Amino acid sequence: MDTMTRLADDPTVAQRILDHIDQRTTDLGEAVWREPVENYRSEVRLAAERDLVLRRYPTAFCPTAALAENGSYVARDAAGTPILAVRGSDGTVRAFRNACRHRGTEVAAGAGCAKAFVCRYHGWTYGLEGQLRHVPHEHGFPGLDKATHGLVPVKAVELHGLVFVTQDAPEVPGARLEELPPLIPPSYRLVGTADQDIPANWKILAEGFLEGYHIRPTHSTTFYPVQFDNLNVVETFGRNNRIAFPFRAIHKLRAVAAPERSVDGKLTYVYHLFPNVMLATFPGRIFMIALEPLAIDRTRFVTYVLSDRDQSDTDTQATLQRGGELLAMGALEDREVACSIQRGLASNANECFEFGLFEGALGHFHRALDAALDGARSRGPAPR
Ligand code: FES
Ligand SMILES: [Fe+2]
Repeated sequence: MDTMTRLADDPTVAQRILDHIDQRTTDLGEAVWREPVENYRSEVRLAAERDLVLRRYPTAFCPTAALAENGSYVARDAAGTPILAVRGSDGTVRAFRNACRHRGTEVAAGAGCAKAFVCRYHGWTYGLEGQLRHVPHEHGFPGLDKATHGLVPVKAVELHGLVFVTQDAPEVPGARLEELPPLIPPSYRLVGTADQDIPANWKILAEGFLEGYHIRPTHSTTFYPVQFDNLNVVETFGRNNRIAFPFRAIHKLRAVAAPERSVDGKLTYVYHLFPNVMLATFPGRIFMIALEPLAIDRTRFVTYVLSDRDQSDTDTQATLQRGGELLAMGALEDREVACSIQRGLASNANECFEFGLFEGALGHFHRALDAALDGARSRGPAPR
């Protein structure tokens, strides 16, 4: 499970897709996976997922592009913990528990660029590196050691265009971020963010990204006219997945010599970065989505939109807007299905969900999650 496998290069993926088209096939998983429905309904299970996995693995928190300048920061909850990530005056990204060391008020909200973080309640002031710089009327706190009352740090690593945060020590052995493939090119800038609370379990929302078996029935007038039904290249790397969803335009690559085939505009890659983050590539755009569980039946769907195109160019704008409308409609269809599954949990119709051979990435996700939970339990609780 810990062994990273290399992802295929783009020409190889393109060839596999063209072969699938010719042979009317798709990638198949090795076995059917049966996931107990109780795992979507159990408070105990969600607490374990949050405490033992989401907080103990390096988890993509935001794109590097959201922290473009020294002083830029992003504050949001991750696995129920208010976290503040900030690029210091030395250019290094750090992350902290977002709580004042006086009486706990969050010291930043949303995103922006700051020279310091001034607590809104009584004005305790922290530097970009987290140090407590100023306490108004400090004589009221005799003996306060400012040096030990900086913001509480959590581990942050900037890699491949993403900022990864690990909240609780000890970090899981073998997480091996350095073996991730290049994910977001440095030319991509942040062009939008959104978040939305959705009444569905976080894993149901994750599953919607990980297979193309539903393209025709669910997306009959949105994605299906431009994509294929049940035709994907599915790869795993470590605990992660990458699924290629080809566009019909991929046929044009038949006229291009195999080593020169670029997949830009010919397919969407969805990278599932274990445990709860998706990256999806589209022409001129990359979406990063973090699925933050709020409750067993509620998830905050946090979206960062990145682009390498000139946003002021009107042609580019029109193309991106057309693509964006289609995507938004398709995403709405996925959300409706996820909410419907969530409501269906109350039916008690199923003991297990059946993930078939076309849904191999879902099996890989649940296998990795089970292994992570088992491993964490056998290692014991995180020391505080
Ligand atoms: S809670 Fe922050 S200054 Fe009092
Ligand atoms: Fe979908």
